[in-house]
Amino acid sequence: MVNIIFCGFGEDMDKLVVAKEGDLLLRVAESNGVKIPTECKDGMCGSCAVNITELHEEPNPAQYESKVDPDGWDEQKYTTYMEDKELDTLVEMGAISKKEAESAQQYAQQTPVRLACQCIIKGPMLIKPFE
Ligand code: FES
Repeated sequence: MVNIIFCGFGEDMDKLVVAKEGDLLLRVAESNGVKIPTECKDGMCGSCAVNITELHEEPNPAQYESKVDPDGWDEQKYTTYMEDKELDTLVEMGAISKKEAESAQQYAQQTPVRLACQCIIKGPMLIKPFE
């Protein structure tokens, strides 16, 4: 179980919730009364984009697979596989750069902006609306 903090979504929606690792971020938000805009729920429209900050409590080296980062990518981030369609959508909407998308693929790490309908929870996170 991990802590997920929603912040900036409005009154009664800013809260800390406990979620299961492996659960979908959008499902966790909806089941806890946090409204994130959606249209397709399939990683194509970008309407569910959110800013994500990974929160680290006690680093556990067993959680990380990628160690080397010549581009300065944060090696403390959790290993997170992101689907090509999510990365393509984020690049198309200008939320991340092509280079960030390539680094995310190369190091299996998530970008600072994710699509809530595609984001599998791997660890504690702070979630803010994408603006
Ligand atoms: S709802 Fe369309 S990308 Fe998530």
